[in-house]
Amino acid sequence: MSSSENWIWDQYWHSNRIASCFDGGSQTNYQGEVRKSWELFFSSLANKSRILDLCTGNGAVPLIAGEVSEKNNKQFSITGTDLANIDPARFLQGYASLPFKINFKGGVNAEDLPYENESFDVITSQYGIEYGDVAKVFGEMARVVAAGGKVKMVVHARDGIVVKNCKVDAEEANFLLNGPLFGAAEKAITMVSRYGRGDVQRTSEINQDLQKADANFAQAVEEVAAKLKNAVNPMMRDNAINILVHTYRHFNHFDESVLLGKLKELYGEISAHANRLSALDNASIDQQGAEKWAKNLASLGFENVTNEPMFDGAKDRLIAWQIAADK
Ligand SMILES: C[S@@+](CC[C@H](N)C(=O)[O-])C[C@H]1O[C@@H](n2cnc3c(N)ncnc32)[C@H](O)[C@@H]1O
Repeated sequence: MSSSENWIWDQYWHSNRIASCFDGGSQTNYQGEVRKSWELFFSSLANKSRILDLCTGNGAVPLIAGEVSEKNNKQFSITGTDLANIDPARFLQGYASLPFKINFKGGVNAEDLPYENESFDVITSQYGIEYGDVAKVFGEMARVVAAGGKVKMVVHARDGIVVKNCKVDAEEANFLLNGPLFGAAEKAITMVSRYGRGDVQRTSEINQDLQKADANFAQAVEEVAAKLKNAVNPMMRDNAINILVHTYRHFNHFDESVLLGKLKELYGEISAHANRLSALDNASIDQQGAEKWAKNLASLGFENVTNEPMFDGAKDRLIAWQIAADK
């Protein structure tokens, strides 16, 4: 990936989101074990550490670093970079009033960092490095981190609960995209915008077609709502149905092209979501993969390499691998 143009994450981060979609897509930052693990790590760092967070998204990890820095007067200097065209200062609500500053930079490929050798004391990353060419990213980390510095990564665990949820989420997205909903909505919207307006003359055949399209759309909505009744991502289901129904009902306010444009836009958003989920599934690593990562770090001269599973409370709720090392 050499450019951030049309990168599947560009649009995603242009909103008031901190955590990534796989963790509820929430406006609040990561909680629980993930947060605890980062708080512990940042608390252990020396004052004035220069921290670089790779694949930062809207800065979930830097924001925790900033909080720890503020609370313990650590005076960290924090940078967050991502391949996506990020701008958390613009999109995150309340960012301007934070008591600390983060230097965010978009369009930065973790495989080719625009920094001098040994520019940072600490490099972190969460749910990001696994998407790229890991050997290249590790090479860059080894180059850019200073002697005596530290690295820590949190990585999607293949058999973990987040990845499992994502698989179901992806199935739901694919059912929304390829099931009856969009076809029926497109037909109903096209018909109603061509023939539904009060001033249009209609034959009885057209009236029948209008009714048929309306009934098919209603039936598709019911079918989708029933099939996704217990969805892991009810927000996506509800958004899709609400937007399509709203677009159909308000046909009178817009041209056919605008109405169908809305439908296309929604289809694109759900497709991007499905793509992100499938990329996550492919990127996640199993225990052997995590061990391999740890060995790779050791072969690059890192010491004290640790590789531990992170659980969400119970041992059967694996979330991620956390891999750390000293330079
Ligand atoms: C699942 S999000 C994680 C974001 C954030 N670190 C978090 O914990 O929520 C993955 C991020 O990795 C970024 N990414 C993927 N490959 C990358 C690469 N080669 N270089 C830089 N960023 C990359 C994506 O743009 C995306 O923002």
